[in-house]
Amino acid sequence: MSTDDWKRQAAEQALTYVEDGMKLGLGTGSTAAKFVDLLGAKVKSGLKVVCVPTSEATRAQAAALGIPLTTLDETPELDLTIDGADEIDSDLRLIKGGGGALLREKIVAVASDRVVIIADNSKRVENLGLFPLPLEVVPFGLGATQNLIVKLAADCGCEGEVKLRVGTDGKPFVTDNGNHILDCAFGLIDDPEALDDALKLVPGVVESGLFIGIADVGIIAGPKGVEVLSG
Ligand code: A5P
Repeated sequence: MSTDDWKRQAAEQALTYVEDGMKLGLGTGSTAAKFVDLLGAKVKSGLKVVCVPTSEATRAQAAALGIPLTTLDETPELDLTIDGADEIDSDLRLIKGGGGALLREKIVAVASDRVVIIADNSKRVENLGLFPLPLEVVPFGLGATQNLIVKLAADCGCEGEVKLRVGTDGKPFVTDNGNHILDCAFGLIDDPEALDDALKLVPGVVESGLFIGIADVGIIAGPKGVEVLSG
């Protein structure tokens, strides 16, 4: 079995949390995309749901599959969000944003009664931080924002390179919200809560990829089977 199969297994298991009539949040990334594919098949065979996508990519995928879509303006409270993660620890703390959709992902997740994270076992970690932490930042004042992040992170014992994400076209990556992403290679994060609090004090930081106290369930699939973590 490959990583792709494990992502699909986790996505299949997540489908068991979906009930007819639910309002769903749809995550972003390759694992969430597998869930969206499976959901599309269920919708074709009669499942009634309405969904808020967390990115333009997911919106396009879901629309192509005929999944009914809504917005948080029309439907501000959701029953369930299914999303992927770049890292997940045993306290269901996450790093997200590898795909650049962290801001919409966090808004949608927080608007949901329940959040289920699906991942292959490479995402399961003892300590967060091996995956560089993505931060969504406004383009204005980028250099100053970057300096302040480095200083405040150092106060939390986090040091490392803070790099502007560059897209495949060689230009700064632009999020669906018109912002940029700084990838912070701090290494293992001793106190994710303190770091998250500190980063949010930096003007120009719109959101951090640390998702703490947001996920309710983690479904992790790997060579030893499917592990379900719950808070
Ligand atoms: C998107 O911004 C991310 O938060 C994704 O959920 C995360 O990067 C996981 O993506 P994959 O499922 O592609 O690994």
